[in-house]
Amino acid sequence: MNFVIKKQGIFKRFLDARWAWDLVQGPIYNRLVIKAASELYRRFIDEINPPQHAKILDVGSGPGFLTLLLAKKNPTASVVGVDYSPTQVRAADRLRIRNQIHNCSFRQGDAMNLPFRDASFDIIISVASIKHWPQGKRGLQEIRRVLAPNGCAFIGEADGGATDEEIYRFASKFTAWYVWDPFMRWYLRRVVFGQSYRPREAELMARAAGFSQVSVEKVSESPFFLIKLQK
Ligand SMILES: C[S@@+](CC[C@H](N)C(=O)[O-])C[C@H]1O[C@@H](n2cnc3c(N)ncnc32)[C@H](O)[C@@H]1O
Repeated sequence: MNFVIKKQGIFKRFLDARWAWDLVQGPIYNRLVIKAASELYRRFIDEINPPQHAKILDVGSGPGFLTLLLAKKNPTASVVGVDYSPTQVRAADRLRIRNQIHNCSFRQGDAMNLPFRDASFDIIISVASIKHWPQGKRGLQEIRRVLAPNGCAFIGEADGGATDEEIYRFASKFTAWYVWDPFMRWYLRRVVFGQSYRPREAELMARAAGFSQVSVEKVSESPFFLIKLQK
């Protein structure tokens, strides 16, 4: 099977525009996600064991929940979160200040053109962001470029092949009085998961981006997958 470039519908392009993350998707996502993504975050925290004084990058860091958890768990590391939405960067920075975490910073930047020099990070993570990038392969090439030669990247994403049952179990954790439940189910099924990558597609895309070591696994108890990448 060859790597296939996905066609992006108008609705998806509309929702993935930066202003949509600034004004609509970001504020809703940031309030609800922490209830639902904790299993995925825990899996990342268990998986990643950076060396002392590691440089860690989170691409599409959003509200910074996982970025800050990593910074807290690894006090000698220096952690950077990058997101193309200024609203998300500000939300993450507020959380950083509230939690008094000093080995972490957030800045605005596009995954398609990461604002860092080649080989600057030992560990790179990205969670639930690649499906929003206009060119997934290009974003992975950028991650490869800024990853150190012996570094490791961890990408978590919604599984485009997840079953309705897996998605609805996940959706039940999103419950909030201001979101109509049938709408949330439709949105997760058709938009979030329906337009995401399947694990095999993501694996082929990572190989096409130049990674030589690629391993993919499902995250237990959740409709997400995790890919580990090395140059
Ligand atoms: C679903 S949120 C995930 C946030 C965070 N990683 C988490 O797990 O909570 C997706 C994030 O990706 C960001 N994003 C989308 N396209 C991007 C791009 N081209 N470059 C950088 N960030 C992007 C959005 O602004 C949003 O904050």
